[in-house]
Amino acid sequence: MTLGIGIIGIGHWGPNLARNFYENPATRLEMICDLSAEKASKILKYGTKFTTDPGEVTARDNGVDAVVIATPLSTHFELAREALRNGKHLLVEKPAAATSGEVRELIRLSENAGVTFMVGHVFLYNNGIRHIRKLIEAGELGRILFIHGQRTNLGPVRRDADALWDLTTHDIAICNYLLDSRPEAASAIGSCLLNPGVADVVSSSFLYPDGVKCEFLASWLHPCKVRQLTVVGDRKMLLWDDMQPTAPIRLYDKNITRGRQGEQIDGTLAEFQFHIQDGEATLPAVTAGEPLRAECAHFVECVLNHARPLSNGQNALEVIAALEAATDSMRNRAVITPVSY
Ligand SMILES: NC(=O)c1ccc[n+]([C@@H]2O[C@H](COP(=O)([O-])OP(=O)(O)OC[C@H]3O[C@@H](n4cnc5c(N)ncnc54)[C@H](O)[C@@H]3O)[C@@H](O)[C@H]2O)c1
Repeated sequence: MTLGIGIIGIGHWGPNLARNFYENPATRLEMICDLSAEKASKILKYGTKFTTDPGEVTARDNGVDAVVIATPLSTHFELAREALRNGKHLLVEKPAAATSGEVRELIRLSENAGVTFMVGHVFLYNNGIRHIRKLIEAGELGRILFIHGQRTNLGPVRRDADALWDLTTHDIAICNYLLDSRPEAASAIGSCLLNPGVADVVSSSFLYPDGVKCEFLASWLHPCKVRQLTVVGDRKMLLWDDMQPTAPIRLYDKNITRGRQGEQIDGTLAEFQFHIQDGEATLPAVTAGEPLRAECAHFVECVLNHARPLSNGQNALEVIAALEAATDSMRNRAVITPVSY
């Protein structure tokens, strides 16, 4: 028995989900929906039923066991709620919903229905990011002091989500995963350059426990596609560059430590001088693989084995709560704003 998949939204991202579920031997593409009938041409090759009515995908007894939502953010909650109310397993694209209250409601509905609820935090299924988590867990970087991320490109320009919600969502999900933690407070500044009220460029900072600060630049008004994260530990540092698929991590044997009392540095006694360790960079081997393929396979395994997904409802809630605090801060001259969970 294969799992029947229904996909809603076949714009830019939906076809990637369709391909991965089509190629997964444990699933069959039962139905695909988009409000625009023209989009049907994108999935002709799969021979799957196409509809312009999302209600047909979320309806009971239609052969669809799991609904996958890849529509704009403003539509996620209504579609997801309908799917869960009808007992479907759910994979919803990031950001899961527009408010933390909506995510809480989706968690409640999924628990009541006893179905899987997963959010498409695709970077949790990225082998480079997983490798960084292993390095951190093994103590290779020492104590994490600071993380800096850049996520820029020329478009796609969104209207119902700003650059913070569209792009920084990924970075918060990644840092929550890497630090096995969640931010306590946020501060953000945004610039609305193309559409009034929708920030195209957002600079945000998130304060995690133990004083760890994570800073991100998100922009869809930028000449270059950049997907980078710099992780600074007190032993080593690294740069992750998702645009370098064969060797995405550069691990630097670099650090700066303060001299100990009575210690000689460069012939002088100086407890307030610094040792600079400026060692070699190495490129750890990272297995190649499409993160979305791994994400889709994980979703199917969780459904079939009644397991809790890595990117579950609670993860979605923690990311949305951080985005809400950053949004409040952006409206309030970047004041540091606590995150309420
Ligand atoms: N995980 C990732 O890396 C990643 C990458 C890109 C997009 N996304 C997410 O995927 C979602 C879709 O993004 P996109 O870039 O494909 O957007 P898009 O605008 O290109 O496509 C959205 C599609 O949904 C359709 N649609 C809108 N409302 C609908 C409804 N009520 N019922 C059925 N169809 C409807 C539109 O006609 C359109 O074809 C967003 O949540 C986005 O954040 C995730």
